[in-house]
Amino acid sequence: MNPSGPTTSAHRPPVDFPADFLFGAATAAYQIEGASRADGRTDSIWDTFCRVPGAVLGGDDGTVADDHYHRYRDDVALMKRLNLDSYRFSVAWPRVRPDAGAVNPRGLDFYSRLVDELLGAGIKPWLTLYHWDLPQALEERGGWAERDTAYRFLEYALSVHDVLGDRVQTWTTLNEPWCSAFLGYAGGQHAPGRRDPVAALRAVHHLLLGHGLAVTELRRRDPDLSLGITLNLTHAEPADPADEGDRDAARRIDGLHNRIFLDPLLEGRYPTDVLADTAALDWHDAVVEAGDLDTISAPTDVLGVNYYHGSAVSAHPREDVVGLGQVYPERPTGSPFVAAEHVTFPSRHLPVTDMGWEVQPWGLRDLLVRLDKDYRLPPTYITENGAAYADRLCNGSVEDPERIAYIDRHLRAVREAMDAGVDVRGYFVWSLLDNFEWAFGYAKRFGIVYVDYATQERIPKASAAWYADVAATRRLEGDL
Ligand code: FCB
Repeated sequence: MNPSGPTTSAHRPPVDFPADFLFGAATAAYQIEGASRADGRTDSIWDTFCRVPGAVLGGDDGTVADDHYHRYRDDVALMKRLNLDSYRFSVAWPRVRPDAGAVNPRGLDFYSRLVDELLGAGIKPWLTLYHWDLPQALEERGGWAERDTAYRFLEYALSVHDVLGDRVQTWTTLNEPWCSAFLGYAGGQHAPGRRDPVAALRAVHHLLLGHGLAVTELRRRDPDLSLGITLNLTHAEPADPADEGDRDAARRIDGLHNRIFLDPLLEGRYPTDVLADTAALDWHDAVVEAGDLDTISAPTDVLGVNYYHGSAVSAHPREDVVGLGQVYPERPTGSPFVAAEHVTFPSRHLPVTDMGWEVQPWGLRDLLVRLDKDYRLPPTYITENGAAYADRLCNGSVEDPERIAYIDRHLRAVREAMDAGVDVRGYFVWSLLDNFEWAFGYAKRFGIVYVDYATQERIPKASAAWYADVAATRRLEGDL
């Protein structure tokens, strides 16, 4: 296949999507809700992490964020004006079971009201159970490195289902377990900020186990639910395909980013090369119990793929590397790539976003085509894709042509994958609103809607109007 293809050529013909293709937008609880003490909510690992000096740019935190907890009605009205078919949001575990203890009806009631508001607006709720806000009380008992956390996750998932199961059809368990395990426990860039490679691998298994336990029990309760998981997958290519070290580096990154999750979920086994690379860490036999992989590979109905960029990877020290979001102010962090700490990410001199991430739309097409070739995929949805740019509010409006171009190119890449036979059924832009971008605090704006944090005013950017048209017409027009 042409490495760049029509997604980068000068002339872009109009492209149509099927009538039932879902156009949506995504957010996550800690990034938008604020109200961190309201109605019984207690600390998550992110509340705690934000208090660590130097962990989050500007010392920012999610205490107020977009105040969505109090403004959700207006936000849903905005989604309706943007013609969204679906809204992907996450539920905050520490609202539902504060300190991982008893069920907190007041916390659950927020999501019940949100779901009613969405349904009233004709917007399909797409629920994520875990977008990184583990109750701090569980981290104090060892967090995801401990098996018990998987059972606590099941318990929490069922509490949410008890209340929302009658109205929410699509349930995804985890968002990006790669980030939870490797940024959280190996690199230390994300909460809980640990740097312990064995804990990271244990976390991988316990996150997957939690997913499998929840899928199994939700399926038993209601066979009609649509169940799945969201993974952030990458397209890793050797910087120099003729260099054996670079090829090995690409294999390792593909293994640690993609296959360590996809293989257990879809094939019921861990990839042998990743097990061999990490054998010295002695984690596998200590955590994997009989039957776990059957639980983890319980059939699912949807696969969520989050994609922002692919990478060239090298085994050699390089000066011209891309920023992969690992530049932090004061606090030392490490490589999240266990047993591949030497790998570098050379720049390909592609345009970059405000995160320093290379814009590589054809990587999404190639990733989807490859997944479809290597696995028996459930129907696939792009559950996150989007870009941060340094938006400026000027005379009451925000012109963001780069974001429009980014989304347009990636949607074209999705369409190309569909034309190549991949069953992609929807696309969620990240994000509906500017929000708390984890270790970058409020410094990075991913929204199609601008948020003035001083007033909480929402100002749809030019990309919001453009996306609303795409969602209404299910068509990308020709050249922008
Ligand atoms: C993903 C996260 C999401 C957001 C985007 C930019 O890794 O799932 O919360 O931060 O990156």
